[in-house]
Amino acid sequence: MGRVTVKNLQEGMVLEEDLRAPNGRFILGKGATLKDKYIRMFKIWGITGADVEGIEEEEVVRRARLEEEALRQARLYVDGYFPPGDGEDACAAAVRSFCVRRFAEEYTSGMPPSALPVVGSLPRPPEGHFGRSFSAYALAKDEVRLFSFPDIYFKIQEVINSPISSATSIAKVVSNDPNLAARLLRLVNSSFYGFPNPIQSIPRAIAIIGSNELTALALAVSTMKVFTNVPREYVDMKSFWRHSIACGVFSRLLAYSKRIRSEERFFLAGLLHDLGRIILYTKTPKEMTYALELSFFERIPLWRAEKRVFGFDHTAVGKVLMEEWRIPQGIRFLCDHHHAPEAENAPEEAAYVHLADYLANSVRIGTSGSLYLSGVEGSLWERIELDEGDIEAVLVQGERQIREIMNIFLMS
Ligand SMILES: [Fe+2]
Ligand SMILES: [Fe+2]
Repeated sequence: MGRVTVKNLQEGMVLEEDLRAPNGRFILGKGATLKDKYIRMFKIWGITGADVEGIEEEEVVRRARLEEEALRQARLYVDGYFPPGDGEDACAAAVRSFCVRRFAEEYTSGMPPSALPVVGSLPRPPEGHFGRSFSAYALAKDEVRLFSFPDIYFKIQEVINSPISSATSIAKVVSNDPNLAARLLRLVNSSFYGFPNPIQSIPRAIAIIGSNELTALALAVSTMKVFTNVPREYVDMKSFWRHSIACGVFSRLLAYSKRIRSEERFFLAGLLHDLGRIILYTKTPKEMTYALELSFFERIPLWRAEKRVFGFDHTAVGKVLMEEWRIPQGIRFLCDHHHAPEAENAPEEAAYVHLADYLANSVRIGTSGSLYLSGVEGSLWERIELDEGDIEAVLVQGERQIREIMNIFLMS
């Protein structure tokens, strides 16, 4: 018999002793066979381990050593891009320890995360070449001609804004695009919404989630199609969208946890927040390479390096593009300020997108190119009254939703 930590418990293991929570509450009796759903609950009840039949003490010690080694490697890895700060606040510490656990699992499973660039291994970019001759406006304007926005979005908008619009007329427009309709149905049936019964038709989906939400989702689904042809040498679009989806899911969950209405716009803002960067990668690849090198060389977030190279960052470019595409102002404002949520003119709610971006970059689910974290002002966590428990819940819930949405959006 041996004691197995909760992380190493597996479905099918049999309890050698009664299992109780730290507060003494009886959980499962001796001889019970563990199931995945019980093991998930153990963590919530604060159970750290259980005595299990048929596992020798040596095996337990071996597993504990492996776990310890994986944690050591994960800590080193996370410190590489998320340096522990003096007086780190409780929320940042919770994010860090979540990341360490997540990467430790990857080390244990034999699929370690990809290596981080070694600081100083890249040349210092030629500061003298940094041009201030770019205009965010001109870059984005030009791009609008190349990447025309999906018609379907404007058609839905038109129907919604019409005084005689009805759920049926919106459903008709969406159903005319079978691919969009199929994706939307998969989305409303995913854990993102978590409805208990399957939703089988677009009119039903509209009745349940509302036409504004459905339009936002239609916009989200169609946006990704606009940029599918960006050459890989500029930017890995799959990784870019994974980062964007992660930011959208985390924003939506953070807003939801604070009971903010219409969380779909947070999802959409997360999805669109780094759009300007795609334009910088495709239109000015040489300068973006400088910006990346500068960010790796000085270990600064990429948006700060962009400011040094271009005189502005990707939010300025994204702003013009989104204005041209007539993205609703409520969403645009969340994106415009995602790197400066404390700016005077920033809407309060930009803090959610900012924090979501921070979470997505911390757990490294996809990337839009930035490696080093900006850090979050302690006052921001306080302003939206998040504690470590909220953050942990958002991270755990988010990972599953991100996986599902990636599959839905990238399905062919
Ligand atoms: Fe950004
Ligand atoms: Fe981002």
